[in-house]
Formats: sequence, structure tokens, C-alpha cells
Amino acid sequence: MHKGAQLQVVEGGACDPYAALKAKVETQQITIGVIGLGYVGLPLSIAAVRGGVSVLGFDIAKSRVDMLNQGGSFLKTIGAEAVQGMVDSGRFEATATMARLSEPDILIICVPTPLSRNREPDLTHVRTTAETIAQHLRPGQLVCLESTTYPGTTDEVIRTILERSGLRSGEDFFLAYSPEREDPGNLRFSTGTIPKVVGGQGERATELATAVYSLFIDKVVPASSERVAEAVKLTENIFRSVNIALVNELKVIFGQMGIDVWEVIEAAKTKPFGYMPFYPGPGLGGHCIPVDPFYLTWKAREYGISTRFIELAGEINRAMPAHVAQATADALNRHLARALNGARVLVVGVAYKRDIDDWRESPALDVIRHLRAAQARVDYHDPHIPVLDAEALGGKMQGVAWDLAALAAYDAAVVCTDHSDIDWQALANAVPLVIDTRNALAGVEAARGVVVKA
Ligand SMILES: NC(=O)c1ccc[n+]([C@@H]2O[C@H](COP(=O)([O-])OP(=O)(O)OC[C@H]3O[C@@H](n4cnc5c(N)ncnc54)[C@H](O)[C@@H]3O)[C@@H](O)[C@H]2O)c1
Repeated sequence: MHKGAQLQVVEGGACDPYAALKAKVETQQITIGVIGLGYVGLPLSIAAVRGGVSVLGFDIAKSRVDMLNQGGSFLKTIGAEAVQGMVDSGRFEATATMARLSEPDILIICVPTPLSRNREPDLTHVRTTAETIAQHLRPGQLVCLESTTYPGTTDEVIRTILERSGLRSGEDFFLAYSPEREDPGNLRFSTGTIPKVVGGQGERATELATAVYSLFIDKVVPASSERVAEAVKLTENIFRSVNIALVNELKVIFGQMGIDVWEVIEAAKTKPFGYMPFYPGPGLGGHCIPVDPFYLTWKAREYGISTRFIELAGEINRAMPAHVAQATADALNRHLARALNGARVLVVGVAYKRDIDDWRESPALDVIRHLRAAQARVDYHDPHIPVLDAEALGGKMQGVAWDLAALAAYDAAVVCTDHSDIDWQALANAVPLVIDTRNALAGVEAARGVVVKA
């Protein structure tokens, strides 16, 4: 058994890692190690500390570690005061020293799970983290994966790597999966108030993980296994992807028929049962919805099953930026007798959703790419993103300031993100043509020029 283990001695003198950890959780004498202090790991740490638990945060990015220890935040959606409060409590410390992984009783993994270039799961970060944990694992630790992934990862990847230490899941250490439901920028819910699904490898792991999360999360929902919990996360995100694709398809069809899809949705959602509103847009964005469904697609192949719904939804959503560029060309032609070639176009909002500064996988990048390919002269304005440094755009692109006189020089504006602090009335007054992919100008009374929904 490992050196640093503090195990409870049960009847007969044997050390029981389960009983020892259970006793610690029950008396709230635990430290949680959160590995990966980004959009998921940082709010999780804040929630745990607020719940009275001690957190040791791990990140390979030394600059992030230093900033957090000084009470600063690198995420716009998390205020520095929240981090400062965590530091001031004396229950939080960040570190880049992975040898300290043996200190916490619970290790929660929140590292990225992107897709590779050929759209296959890239578990590099998860594997590296598991390999590092394996070097420091001690009996009586609970390891919980939160990164989004396909069913089977916790067992096939994490357990396999951790058991190379000689310790056994369910006996010496405990393993669980709990999907993250973080929604950056959502002011109605926070980590502590979003119900949390937890599935362990074996009953004891589920029980321990449920007890741990219950210390700082209002409602914990136990699942019968870690595989079920993994499948829950993908189900939620695939549900969104498919429904957004459906409503994007309806937007194109109804648009051709002269019917406003947003008006249709407003009316449809008055049905008190059997309908849930989803809204169209310039395509799918963020690092979850466009990415996660393809984790299941990849895994399903192992079972000889093709995921046709998921693929089709991806196809429709990915076609939206080209649809928006085409709608811009058509509107310039029809309303201003201008070609897109040579036109000055301002893309308004490049974040993947409202009021955040995250442009990862944002469809606005593709809209810009399509407009540029048609020889339009494209600028962008986003109050939250002064510079875009995107490979998809061939490098850096500087945003332009919000200047009413300068706005008048554009032939068209394409609204890709409906940030709440943009003055839509002023935009409609200044630019002769606005292509609105978000219904952001719904409240605008009269525009100087033309507003086209696309
Ligand atoms: N952002 C969201 O809203 C959201 C929501 C639900 C689920 N998720 C999932 O949560 C996971 C994490 O996403 P995120 O958005 O927080 O990512 P992020 O990029 O914001 O943060 C990840 C952090 O992990 C660190 N890191 C990478 N490898 C590491 C390692 N080996 N050891 C220690 N630290 C390491 C990085 O430096 C970074 O600070 C992903 O699987 C994602 O799909 C994200």
C-alpha cells in the first residue's frame, strides 16, 4: 500500500479504504483536487469552497495557477471577486506541481476533450492526466471524471491506466463519472444549483461520489453506473444539436415561404406540453454541442452502428454559415443592387453565444470565411472580443470599435451574436442593410434601411 495513506483501521486490524474515505466525507474532512481549472474546473472549485470544502486546484498552465493564487480570474464569466473570495477563505490553493496529486482525497478531472483534425475523439489530455494520477495514486482516493466523453472512457481508459499502479478500482480506490452541465454566462443557474448526475464504478463508488458532491451541490442524482452517467451527458448535447438542426432547417424552409420562423416559435411555445423552443442561428458554436455528439458517433462504430441522426444534424448545422453568406449576397443584390464582391460587411458579434467572450468553434468564424471567399471586405465588432486569433481565419483579426459615423460606411451588417449590450436601434439606423441571424433586431421600431432575417 502507498506511503501517504491515512486509512481507517477496521475490525481485525485491516485497513479499509472505503470506510476511511466514507468517514472523512461524512465529517467533511476532505480535500478535493480539481484537475484543469478552466470553464468547468474553476466554477466547480468555487462552488466546493463556498460549500465549506477545501480545494487544491491543479493546472499545467503556470500562468493560470499564479493568477488564481493572487485572486485573479482569466475567464470573463467568472469575476475576480469570486476567485478572491475563494482565496480569502483559506480553503483554496492552485498548483502546477502534480506530485501533490496524492494530497487530496478526491480527484476531479476537468481537462479538455476536443476532436482531432479528422473529427475523432482526442483523449490526449484525459490520458496524460490519468497517467500522472497513476504515479501518485494512493488507497482511499476517489477519482471522478467530468470531461465530456463517450460511454466506456472511465472504465476503459481511466481505470486501465490507474490500475497500472497496482491498486484496484472498487477496492483500493474508487472511480466515478459526473457530467458537467456548466452554462457560461447563465445568470439563472450556477454550479451549486444545477442538479448533478453521478455514476460510480460499483455501488460504493456511486455512494461516495454522491456524498462528496452533495456537500456543495443542491441536488445530486445517482446513476447506476459510470457508463450511464457518461451517456447522460452525450444525450443532453445530442438532443440540443438535433433540435437546433431541425429549427435551422425550418428557418430555411419557412424563409423561402415568406414565414418568419421566430414568430412561429413564439406562437408554438404557447403549447403547454409536448413542445420545447429551440432557436435558429448562424450555425452551431462552442466547444460542446458541435463536438460532443461525434464522441458517440466514433464509439458507435465499434458496435457496427451508424449515427445517422447525429451526422445529419451536424451536416445541417455546418451548412448554416454558407447559408448566411448566401443570404447576404442575395440581399445586397436585391435591396442595394450591389455585389458581395467588394462590399463592406460588418459582422456583429463573433462569440458563439450571447454575452460571453468565447469564440471557440463559433459559426461567426465560418461566416467571415465565406464572406471573404466571396471577396467581401469584412470587419467585425464584438464588445467582448477585441481580437480574434483563429487558425480558421489565417491568423489575427482586430475588431473595430463601435463608432456610429464609421458604421455608416458599411454596405451591410451581419448579426451573428445577439449580445445584450449592443444598440440594435443604432445599428439599424446607421447601416443600410442588416442580415439578422438571431432575431436581435426584433425590438427595433424602424430601420433606416432593410432588415433581412437569415
Ligand atoms: N465549458 C463548458 O461550458 C463545458 C460544459 C460542459 C462540459 N465541458 C467539458 O469539460 C471539459 C473541460 O472543458 P473546459 O471548457 O473547462 O476546458 P478549458 O480549456 O476551459 O480548461 C481546461 C483546463 O485544463 C488544463 N489542462 C489541460 N491538460 C491538463 C493536464 N494534463 N493537467 C492539468 N491541467 C490540464 C488547461 O490548462 C485548462 O486550464 C471538456 O471535456 C468539456 O467538453 C465543458
